[in-house]
Amino acid sequence: MNPLKLQVTVICLFLLLLKAPFYIEAEITAVSDTVTGFYNKVLILPCTFPVGSSWDLRSTLILWQRGPDIVHSFYYSQDQLDRQNQHYVNRTSLFSQEMARGNASLRLDKVTLQDAGVYTCSVSTNTGSQKKSFEVNIAAFYSEPCLQFSMLTDRVNLLVTSDEGYPSPTLQWLMENSDITNQTQTHLMQDTQTGLYVVSSWISLTEVTNSSLTFILHNKPLGQDIRRDIQLYSDKSERQRESAYRCHGCFILIPVLLLLLLIMMTALYVFITKRRKEQTKQNGFTEMGYPSETQILNGKSSMCL
Ligand SMILES: *[C@@H]1O[C@H](CO)[C@@H](O)[C@H](O)[C@H]1NC(C)=O
Ligand SMILES: *[C@@H]1O[C@H](CO)[C@@H](O)[C@H](O)[C@H]1NC(C)=O
Ligand SMILES: *[C@@H]1O[C@H](CO)[C@@H](O)[C@H](O)[C@H]1NC(C)=O
Ligand SMILES: *[C@@H]1O[C@H](CO)[C@@H](O)[C@H](O)[C@H]1NC(C)=O
Repeated sequence: MNPLKLQVTVICLFLLLLKAPFYIEAEITAVSDTVTGFYNKVLILPCTFPVGSSWDLRSTLILWQRGPDIVHSFYYSQDQLDRQNQHYVNRTSLFSQEMARGNASLRLDKVTLQDAGVYTCSVSTNTGSQKKSFEVNIAAFYSEPCLQFSMLTDRVNLLVTSDEGYPSPTLQWLMENSDITNQTQTHLMQDTQTGLYVVSSWISLTEVTNSSLTFILHNKPLGQDIRRDIQLYSDKSERQRESAYRCHGCFILIPVLLLLLLIMMTALYVFITKRRKEQTKQNGFTEMGYPSETQILNGKSSMCL
């Protein structure tokens, strides 16, 4: 029925770069590294300290902070959470079995965007003390994009949306490998609760020919690349046939509609004079006249790529 067929080829490319090196001997507080956490997931913040043969758990103090806020503290062989910042309640834990191996890493559950910041791990033992700071960024993968297309008589509108991502992505559109990004419109919306983004990108094509479009979404901190190929097929002959059919239909329809209108007017007149109202017939007429035409003119559909 539609003169255009859209065939969508899906190529999915996820590149995930995880960086988690750490420095054992850092004595000075310095932002030495960046750790990326994923929204709503578990994040392990790395921290290690040297343990010699004389190491003793009871004299070990572990303090995790974000800026001045206490994220987690441990001393006298147990967690000490009295002064823990509200934001971290019930979301932090250390790996107690790992401590004897010099592992003071922190597990942070249900990561939110508000967890971003500079974290410091301070460890003091009977053999010395050290401190390490690093930056934590939170990011979220954009969802599989959805394509909505609507076909009008003279053009095709394509709308691609993807949500629940962070930070804001860079978008690119290609048509037959040439960049058409500046012919598109992009809208970024932020969820007031989660802070995550919904991105939508829109293009209107007036001349549809057999061509391939590529939509590219890049989420830099995660190395996430979403690349979707959209094949546009224009079948000119089919389109001509349909418009001919449409015109043909119109010519038949117009006298029929006029005739119906006449009948209705007469009927209405009769009803009015008889002070009777039969609205069902009137409604029936309205429904018959328009929607089918609208359906021919507008094709609308959507799919997730
Ligand atoms: C933390 O967990 C305890 C025990 O499960 C619960 O009583 C408390 O309400 C929780 N606090 C928050 C802020 O979720
Ligand atoms: C510390 O322990 C956690 C949990 O077992 C583990 O994921 C992490 O890799 C450990 N870190 C080191 C440096 O061994
Ligand atoms: C779109 O980009 C092309 C080349 O990249 C440039 O020549 C053209 O002026 C741009 N058009 C607009 C409307 O920005
Ligand atoms: C587009 O391709 C289809 C089949 O692949 C073909 O039937 C049609 O004629 C082509 N349309 C144009 C405008 O080249």
